[in-house]
Amino acid sequence: MRDFNEQTITDAVISQFKAEDPRLQQILTSLVKHLHDFIRDVEPTEEEWFKGIQYLTDVGHMCDENRQEFVLLSDTLGVSILVDAINHRADAGMTETTVLGPFHTPHAKPMTHGAQIASAEELAKGTPTVVRGQVTDPDGKPIAGAKVDVWQASSEGLYDVQMGHGEADLRGIFETDADGKFWFRSIKPVAYPIPFDGPVGKMLVATGRHPYRPAHIHYMISAPGYETLITHVFVSGDEYLDSDAVFAVKDSLVADFVAVEDAEAAKQFGYSAPFYEVEFNFGLKPTA
Ligand SMILES: [Fe+2]
Repeated sequence: MRDFNEQTITDAVISQFKAEDPRLQQILTSLVKHLHDFIRDVEPTEEEWFKGIQYLTDVGHMCDENRQEFVLLSDTLGVSILVDAINHRADAGMTETTVLGPFHTPHAKPMTHGAQIASAEELAKGTPTVVRGQVTDPDGKPIAGAKVDVWQASSEGLYDVQMGHGEADLRGIFETDADGKFWFRSIKPVAYPIPFDGPVGKMLVATGRHPYRPAHIHYMISAPGYETLITHVFVSGDEYLDSDAVFAVKDSLVADFVAVEDAEAAKQFGYSAPFYEVEFNFGLKPTA
């Protein structure tokens, strides 16, 4: 095989793949086809091609145990939500999924119902909020003993792993009761920018995009016999709901955070008025 031209090179590369795994064969074949089509479409100069390679190199160099720039790149190019949509086609009674994001950690601690997931320091800076939920099957039957892993950003828009103190904060794991319910105390989430001091931020600036995500709480909910649900609950009225930097908003995931002015009600949660309340019900998809 020799003398390849702009057209014959694609089949030449594909014909070299002899993977034992048929799925790997399929993926690499498609990758080369699309990548070559992309190059024929764009016709990059050699300088541009090297710039692209340098960009991906920079994305890799930006990654460490607390920073995953490739996830941000996938998120901001809409690839993460596309993969999510293909893999989680929700039916009636099932909560829609959305992106995992780069800030889930295995460090969250199991907590009892009503626990405060914000440290005293973060609670003092934020707006007190009570969060309630119920986990059910698609018919609305409660799922007891479901594991509810929650995480959110601070009132300054930072996750604990970005604060550099090494402590778990604004995250926790709850188990649903016999009625499939759980509740916890926290602060009202705020809109925040994804980390934009790296290559992904440069791409956003160069393409006239902002880095903001509308306020949300992350959930990962699992129970035996059901697919693990990875989703967010968004705050209604947020100014970035229609321009989320990672395209993760779905109407069904937007909830009202209701202001409560009643001082007595606030007192029972250890809060002073006003505080916010939000309730959201999650429908899990049975495993096939
Ligand atoms: Fe987030």
